[in-house]
Amino acid sequence: MTTQGRSSSQDRTAAELDAADPLAHIRHEFEVPDGVYMVGNSLGALPKATREYVNTELDRWSSLGVEGHFTGDLAWKDYHGLLTDQLASLVGAHTDEVVAMNGLTVNLHLLMVSFYQPTPERHKIIIESHAFPSDHFAAESQIRQRGFDPAESLITLEPREGEETLRPDDILATIAEHGDQLALILLPGVQYYTGQVLPMADIVKAGHAVGAIVGFDLAHAAGNIELSLHDWGVDFAAWCTYKYLNSGPGGVAAAYVHRRHVDDQDLPKLVGWWGTNSATRFAMETTFDPIPTIESWQLSNAPVLTMAALRASLDVIDKAGGVAAMRAKSELQIEYFDRRLAETLGGRIENITPSAMSERGCQYALRVTKGDGKRVFDELEKARVLCDWREPDVIRVAPVPLYNSFADIDRFVEILDGIVQ
Ligand SMILES: Cc1ncc(COP(=O)(O)O)c(C=O)c1O
Repeated sequence: MTTQGRSSSQDRTAAELDAADPLAHIRHEFEVPDGVYMVGNSLGALPKATREYVNTELDRWSSLGVEGHFTGDLAWKDYHGLLTDQLASLVGAHTDEVVAMNGLTVNLHLLMVSFYQPTPERHKIIIESHAFPSDHFAAESQIRQRGFDPAESLITLEPREGEETLRPDDILATIAEHGDQLALILLPGVQYYTGQVLPMADIVKAGHAVGAIVGFDLAHAAGNIELSLHDWGVDFAAWCTYKYLNSGPGGVAAAYVHRRHVDDQDLPKLVGWWGTNSATRFAMETTFDPIPTIESWQLSNAPVLTMAALRASLDVIDKAGGVAAMRAKSELQIEYFDRRLAETLGGRIENITPSAMSERGCQYALRVTKGDGKRVFDELEKARVLCDWREPDVIRVAPVPLYNSFADIDRFVEILDGIVQ
């Protein structure tokens, strides 16, 4: 079932769907590796424009040297600001709520410094038992840093026995159960292993009802599904940009803080010179004068080359019509992929990603029901099908609407079928 009002793939072939695809031309904006590249859940493909955007900064560096910090519309001292509008619209936020900075795990730490304020009564953090290890380590180390014990303060959400994904009701019940001992909920928007979309708006409501702060790791959500962080009331979020936002390996990350917190001077914060008033920053004063937006969380001057790469990709996303247009195509691709898997590989491959459209993004978590899944994955790689393997037993594969065609889905299914035979 697609989102209400959107078209359906019905019984159409890949060729018909590609011919009718309003985003088909966007694939030509990318340099997609040879073979079947369906691993944008890990590293997005290279936008052709990236070379130009990065070269522009190299040329400016070459000709202007240090003056590049202050010269023209692309002045490096303000460069992060060039990304804000597009990042904000991708996640459903206002521009004072979003900034590009650092790496994802760094941003999670910076935000927990502000938003995890444990007391002897209220010290618990809820994460998932299969949280991405970096999130687990970050939460655990934050608990220790504040003098608490993860054995008591770290609550992990577990799918029910024999189930793969978290039941929304179980998440909400766990929040209620820990109630007034709960300081923070730190969950993914889209789970990295199963591809499950968590009910973010409901989690925020439930968290706030017990007086907890709610933050999300949107690594697998940003650029994949539609988000409304501000309207949902999410307190904070962070995400990387090298997956569905195609900024390249190790690309700059982003962060969001709800408007009600951005100018709260009582929040503890690790600060640096990029968070102080930009008008007086270069006066080299040592009185911190926080920018009244999320920009006050910035520590260091902007990593311009990776930001240039991200700008290139965000401009391609704009050309595609933004995340709503991407998601509309993605839903058709999901429907089509489901159908092809069921017709061709039914019984031999299990998809542990939830089947309801509202509970999934473009990433699939496939499990080989008989035989050695890792060997199947190795054979896929040999056949130049790029997807990824996540221990213990899942092949993750993602048709990305920006550069994957319906024909890519067919090729993936046919090659997988040949291997699993
Ligand atoms: C869900 C999730 N959280 C955190 C990370 C860590 O990201 P980084 O290395 O950019 O800090 C990743 C990386 O893939 C991720 O998928």
